[in-house]
Amino acid sequence: MSTPILQTKSLCRSFGAVTAARDLDVTINPGEIVGVIGSNGAGKTTFINMVTGYLPPSSGQILFEGRSILGKPPRAIIRMGMARSFQVAQLFPELTVLENMLIALVAAEGPRPSFFLPMASAKRMRQAKELLAEFGVERFGDSVVSAVPQGARKLIDIAMALISTPRMLLLDEPTSGVSVEEKFGLMDTVMRAVRHHGVTVLFVEHDMEIVERYVSRVLAFYSGEIISDGTPAQVFADEKVRELVIGHGHGTEKKRNMA
Ligand SMILES: Nc1ncnc2c1ncn2[C@@H]1O[C@H](COP(=O)(O)OP(=O)(O)O)[C@@H](O)[C@H]1O
Ligand SMILES: [Mg+2]
Repeated sequence: MSTPILQTKSLCRSFGAVTAARDLDVTINPGEIVGVIGSNGAGKTTFINMVTGYLPPSSGQILFEGRSILGKPPRAIIRMGMARSFQVAQLFPELTVLENMLIALVAAEGPRPSFFLPMASAKRMRQAKELLAEFGVERFGDSVVSAVPQGARKLIDIAMALISTPRMLLLDEPTSGVSVEEKFGLMDTVMRAVRHHGVTVLFVEHDMEIVERYVSRVLAFYSGEIISDGTPAQVFADEKVRELVIGHGHGTEKKRNMA
């Protein structure tokens, strides 16, 4: 058996009286495409925040490729090979897309011998431009981030996360705010790139059609626990999931594309 790419053991997190993660034992193997579902407040973002170093767990363990990441800052975890999509708005909205990508790339390379070394080497520029082209957004390279339309920003967001050449990528609701017509195109692009780079993916998604089409495995969260784990067919057929997740606000025939 190969080492899991990500493993959590008895992972817990509370916020005061709220238990956002309760004894989560998750094992993800290299190459899996995992969808995370669950209604609002189920603990999906808390899970992603903990495994990417943005939120310390209350207790439990997190192993990336067999090595503990507990206590490491997000930057160190990115350098180990686990990335999450950047919220573009949190980067530098007044810099261009390419400038933002170069900063992300330089940060992923580790401590620099001198702050004043040039960032825009020909090699880095080529890498950044190739990634943008792969996502069909190269025309926005010289646009300031704040001027890029929402749909393209989503793609740039994910392209930026790939610039550190991660082996695992975590995406929190990659299709949120994207129109129903654009969702499948966006996910086709993302999945093509992900396969090309051989990256293991875990993403939170409300749209059950997207989950059904793109993932090999689903984790259903409810109230800080994983209540079902299996193929989309298995999880969608699970009575608990139908009652507690799909029946509550998303995924039913009528409400499919809402949330
Ligand atoms: N920083 C925080 N402070 C207090 N409570 C939080 C915080 N983050 C999350 N929670 C609570 O933890 C629970 C899980 O939240 P979250 O992980 O954001 O859920 P989801 O992403 O599934 O909607 C919710 O009850 C939420 O209110
Ligand atoms: Mg969330």
